[in-house]
Amino acid sequence: MSNLNVPMDVFIEEAVETVRREAAGRSVLCALSGGVDSAVCAVLAHRAVGEKLTCLFVDTGFMRKNEAEQVTALFRGSYEINLIRVDAEERFLERLRGVTEPEQKRKIIGEEFIRVFEEESKKLGKIGCLVQGTIYPDILESGADGHKQVKAHHNVGGMPPRIEFEAVIEPIKTLYKEEVRECGRKLGLPESFANRQPFPGPGLAVRCLGELTKQKLALLREADAIFREEIEKAGLDIQQYFAVLPGIQSVGVRGGGRCYEHTVALRAINTRDFVTARPARLPHELLETVAERITGEVKGINRVVLDVTPKPPATVEWE
Ligand code: XMP
Repeated sequence: MSNLNVPMDVFIEEAVETVRREAAGRSVLCALSGGVDSAVCAVLAHRAVGEKLTCLFVDTGFMRKNEAEQVTALFRGSYEINLIRVDAEERFLERLRGVTEPEQKRKIIGEEFIRVFEEESKKLGKIGCLVQGTIYPDILESGADGHKQVKAHHNVGGMPPRIEFEAVIEPIKTLYKEEVRECGRKLGLPESFANRQPFPGPGLAVRCLGELTKQKLALLREADAIFREEIEKAGLDIQQYFAVLPGIQSVGVRGGGRCYEHTVALRAINTRDFVTARPARLPHELLETVAERITGEVKGINRVVLDVTPKPPATVEWE
């Protein structure tokens, strides 16, 4: 599927030109999330406005293991882009205390994100424009373009109506995910980044079901890292794979005694456009290794299950 009717090089030239025109000499703030979408936007915007770009990376506390550090190193180190990193974990958890309803979680995270942005941009003085990594499936699934809403996607539906920027620029809003990756490669992003699997704006918050706690997030982060490491070690070509903490606890045996610990679910899917998806077929040996490692290395998880549901009726994420 594609909305692209020009070669990628031409798209890039036009996108850079569009950002430059829409920015109209104003300074630009880019919402860097850690994913390929916002990374591509940041590089496009950097090409368009150079030093007038500031990237803001809000560490929500919902990133994957070591991810915040990798993002900071890439953009500050390799690209010499002005990057501000805000450690906002405590305030996100505080706002989300007691919240269990998935849409409410998404809305609160989206709002808090924008609030942090507004606060930080005020500190920077006058910033005219916000660049966002909205892509075409985000728009479809947030109910725009006459489509029925599935989830309030972080970068579209979760925003409060009042945004203190003169303009919001969305340079890749017509692209599908694979096109964003191709665009990233053309822009010189390292393969590890251009080919990075998608990660939702609200991050691990929508993979940790029910109320969020530091302890549950830590369990999920460790289990997820083990699952991803094993898939990568096996060299499997799977588009998206991650762990989910459903918030279920069950009885098990540890050290000869009864334990009552969390269950983790493994989700691995293949898709063409993320609008529909099929469960990936994982080798049983790999699944057993992952289950043994997670239950052995992550204290607090005693059970591992596999999600084999296609989309529809399930979505890729659990919330
Ligand atoms: P779903 O769960 O809607 O996911 O089937 C489809 C794809 O979108 C990703 N996803 C998001 N991406 N902001 C994003 O930028 C979000 O709020 C969001 N929620 C889901 C999801 O990981 C999958 O790749």
